[in-house]
Amino acid sequence: MIKTTIKNERLIAHKTECLVIFSTEEKNPSGKLAELDTKLNGIIKSSFKNKRFQGKLNQTILLNTKKPMQAEHLLLVGLGKSIEITADKLRQAAGTAAKFAEKSNLKTVSFFIPANDPANYISVALSESNESFAQTVVEGSLLSLHHFDEHKQLAKDKLSRLKKITLLTSLKSQVSSLRYSASKGQKITRAVLASRDLISQPSNIATPTYLADKAREFAKSFGMTCKVLATSDMKRLGMGALLGVAKGSEEPPVFIVLEHNGGTKNDPPVVIVGKGITFDTGGISLKPPASMDEMKMDMSGAAITLGTLSAAAALKIPLNIVGLVPASENMPSGRAIKPGDILTSMSGKTIEVLNTDAEGRLILADALTYAAKYKPKAVIDLATLTGAVIVALGHEAAAVLGNNNELILNLQKCGETTGERLWPLPIWPEHEKAIKSDIADLKNIASPGVGAGTITAGAFLKSFVGEIPWCHLDIAGTSWSSEEKPYTPKGATGFGVRLLTLFLEQEVKNNKNH
Ligand code: BES
Ligand code: ZN
Ligand code: ZN
Repeated sequence: MIKTTIKNERLIAHKTECLVIFSTEEKNPSGKLAELDTKLNGIIKSSFKNKRFQGKLNQTILLNTKKPMQAEHLLLVGLGKSIEITADKLRQAAGTAAKFAEKSNLKTVSFFIPANDPANYISVALSESNESFAQTVVEGSLLSLHHFDEHKQLAKDKLSRLKKITLLTSLKSQVSSLRYSASKGQKITRAVLASRDLISQPSNIATPTYLADKAREFAKSFGMTCKVLATSDMKRLGMGALLGVAKGSEEPPVFIVLEHNGGTKNDPPVVIVGKGITFDTGGISLKPPASMDEMKMDMSGAAITLGTLSAAAALKIPLNIVGLVPASENMPSGRAIKPGDILTSMSGKTIEVLNTDAEGRLILADALTYAAKYKPKAVIDLATLTGAVIVALGHEAAAVLGNNNELILNLQKCGETTGERLWPLPIWPEHEKAIKSDIADLKNIASPGVGAGTITAGAFLKSFVGEIPWCHLDIAGTSWSSEEKPYTPKGATGFGVRLLTLFLEQEVKNNKNH
């Protein structure tokens, strides 16, 4: 990952290829910018005046500087209207600036971090959301500069990439808090990038066994415990739904149990469950060929689970957190399950498999049953579960469904701050009825015509969680981006890691208040 350093110096005296200053949407430069402008003979003011720059969100202008300023260039980035500033807008602006610098072939870039005082509208917006300026800037810039290029023999542009980010403050008293927040931003970002890489990795490399190896690697790096259940363990536990999905594949399935024990011994854990289908062909209910390659990302929930646990462990969050990953391929073959087959899940409930492409809910059923053994205070599962969620919400939000409104609202709030939006969908008794089978306890798809594909999938999961506070995040629309966004390059987004990490941090605070 790119190096981040902190520097305490006067704005004008700081030597760098490019100095980034954030500006709100205004008619004229104000505050530090106005001060600087007098030293630069009004070039900033004239950019405002001739409307080349107005501080609109993610708007940029690169200005050449002159003595006495030591920076070679000044890059202004807009944050939008001051009363509408949010943590995520700052994160976007930082990403936009970093990406701009990279595309302009710059090797280093410095961000000016303003004083953290109550008169500073940006600090106020951030403190409400529990983030700090430096953390947000580090996240935005490092997230935007990520590349998945390990399979390129000669990534020519690799050499010309940005190498260092500096956070500049003119206040000595701010240095230690900047150091703390920057390091926090780095730890969280590292976890997001690790998740993105796992998601981007093709399925001939990222098999269930590979996911297990990665989980062991993360456990070792961050001091977590990791247990990997093999087929024989799954048989012993009666995980017939997971084993059923795995039947068509040559790759053995795994069930990963990753634990960060940051809390006290008997403190009930938060359990995070991630769908780990390393490739989803649909099975005998085969998917059409167009874009089938994208189904290598069907283990996004697993990647986000491993990433979140790593971030929590790196931040030493004082909670017990368990990550569960049922992992398998979904393949057609002579041994594969067929439409109409009946599986017996670990819970004892029987499932009529009417469509082998609705496999995610099958492997999650056994994982949710396993989760209950911990008597957890909450279970959150993440899954690229349904194409229907894209019809409902597009790529702008993940759906959140569950049996506990407080949990739903808390998660939604965290997502608002981190820029990972969640939008609720209901599960009504009619939906629960729609997945009852005539000849087994449940069927894995509702009858044609019922519609509400994301909800009936959620209703299916709900029947395996009982009374435990539970939420399900359908990330099928948000895990992969076909366009570049301010701090998200094309491809795997890592959606969920920052959101869940913030949620876990807030849990610690809520525990203290109770
Ligand atoms: N992995 C897919 C869902 C998916 C779709 C993820 C698009 C990412 C992008 C899931 O296993 C699936 O195939 N779901 C089916 C369910 C249907 C058979 C009820 C779907 O959405 O079509
Ligand atoms: Zn499927
Ligand atoms: Zn799937």
